[in-house]
Order: sequence, then structure tokens, then C-alpha cells
Amino acid sequence: MATVVVLCAMDRELKKFIDTYYAIRVNPEEKVYHTEIGGHNVISAVCGIGKVNSAMTTQKLIDRFSPDYVINCGIAGGLDKSLSVLDTVIVESAQYHDFHPLSLLEEDERLRTSVFKCDGKLVSLALEVCEGLKKDGRLGNYIKGKVASGDCFVESDEVSRRLRDELGASCVEMEGASIAQVCLVNGIPFLIIRSISDFADNSAEMSYDTFADRASYQSVEVLGALIEKISR
Ligand code: ADE
Repeated sequence: MATVVVLCAMDRELKKFIDTYYAIRVNPEEKVYHTEIGGHNVISAVCGIGKVNSAMTTQKLIDRFSPDYVINCGIAGGLDKSLSVLDTVIVESAQYHDFHPLSLLEEDERLRTSVFKCDGKLVSLALEVCEGLKKDGRLGNYIKGKVASGDCFVESDEVSRRLRDELGASCVEMEGASIAQVCLVNGIPFLIIRSISDFADNSAEMSYDTFADRASYQSVEVLGALIEKISR
């Protein structure tokens, strides 16, 4: 039996997971939930928006539950030209887009890199799961890609073009890389799953308002099926 910690930035991203898997609060004071999936102990939590909130929650939950895996799940702005709204990105690496210069992270002896790689086995398993869900008509398209994370909602054609062209990012959000950094320092395998709510462009806000909940549900679909497949 593995212990899996699931982190979402917002209630709306975790809601479907809690409802589907009958997750219950570990106590009334905090948004930390417990359930079992596929024989695994699953702790899920709303970590809050942005790098600091997500890093704090990740470290707290690692200290408290000693997870075997950490999975960040939720929505993102799409950058890769092949993506449509509600498609899913299985993230293979995460990088900050607002940390300058990135070479400071490369010099940090706990990291030695500014590109935080997700666990290869979890990435492969998630891609298999996506293929199965897609065949069953439960998931749209999906790709493997890189996420760019930073402390701002990106809603500019120019910025999204820069993130795609300069960083090679497939999608953008506000927590993935900070959760990844904490996991890396703690030696815990992690994965990021993001479904697309908008294109981080000039119409991002309107698209986000329309698709955030449905995109959240898509990422939870992948998350649940993935945890069921993690070997015991
Ligand atoms: N999460 C979803 N869409 C986003 C965007 N455009 N920028 C940052 N985070 C997001």
C-alpha cells in the first residue's frame, strides 16, 4: 500500500475528486482529506494558489504523511498549438517562468537544475491511463509536455508566445514547479497533471470562467484512474 499525496490549488479543482472517491476531512479545521483508491492511502488537499502557498503545503504534508508519491492535479493555460480546451497535459518537466536568472537554481546544490523532472514511471503510467480513457470516450486529447509556473495569471498573447518559444512550455499555471522543487529536495517522486481551461492569451479570462470546472473534472478523471493503476 502506497501513500499518495494529491495537491490542488483550488477547491474547484479538488471537488470532483472528493465527491467521486468519498474523501473525508481528516479534521474539520483544514482542507485535508483521506480516502483509499486501489488499495492506496490517498491524502488530498487544497494547497492555495501560487508558488509560496503550494510549496508550504507540500512540505507540511510531506512531513506529516511521508508520502511515496506526490501528484499535483488541476487546470492550466494551454500554450502548445496542438492543444484544445479540455485537453490534458501529462507533465514531464516543470520550470519557473518568473525566476531570474534560472542559473541561480542550477548552482543550488540541492537542485543542480532549473528544470524539475517528473517521475518517469508515473509519466508513462499516466500516458497509458490517458490512452485507455480516451478509447473509452472519457478523455479528450492528451500530450506529454513541459509546464511553466509563475506567480501570475497569464492572459497575454505576447507572454504566452514567449513561454512557448523560449521555454518550450506546453502549458502554464501557478504551482507545478514549486511543488516539484519541494518534492525534488525531499527525494519524493512526483507528477503534474493539468487539463486546459484557456490559452493564456487575451481571451484567457473568459475561457477560464467557462471551462475551469470541466477542465478540473478531466484532470481528476486521469488522476483517479492513475492512482488505481499504481502497483501495490
Ligand atoms: N491556470 C489556468 N489558466 C492559467 C493561466 N492562463 N495562467 C496561469 N495559470 C492558469
